[in-house]
Amino acid sequence: MSLVDDARAIREKAYAPYSNFKVGAAIRATSGKVYVGVNVENVAYPEGTCAEAGAIAAMIAGGDTRIAEVAVIADSPAPVPCCGGCRQKLAEFGDADVPVTLATVAGQSLATTIGQILPGVFNISHMQKA
Ligand code: THU
Repeated sequence: MSLVDDARAIREKAYAPYSNFKVGAAIRATSGKVYVGVNVENVAYPEGTCAEAGAIAAMIAGGDTRIAEVAVIADSPAPVPCCGGCRQKLAEFGDADVPVTLATVAGQSLATTIGQILPGVFNISHMQKA
């Protein structure tokens, strides 16, 4: 089963009663373990969380801290780009060359990387004193 298949399978469990836009995410950690997540919305809209954030939380709780591969899937006309916040969250745990597959339920997919979706990432080197 590919990582996109893992994201596709978990997507069904998304809690998205407000947007009706279910998203599934799967992360393969450098250990080889796969972690999945879905978007979880809330009636107080800003409290909702993205699928990528759920997969990252599962990875950390599972004892992994480094991402080897990411897949995100939604039922959209074109592969859905990760939101800006999730790009920064992924960059916290994955190197710039980590592959990211953005897929649609209909079967389209776009291959990119964490570095390509977040050029100019803010990282710890920017926090050094001048
Ligand atoms: N969403 C994600 O889960 N991941 C993304 O990368 C884009 C957006 C969710 C958040 C919200 O529940 C719904 O999609 C509509 O924005």
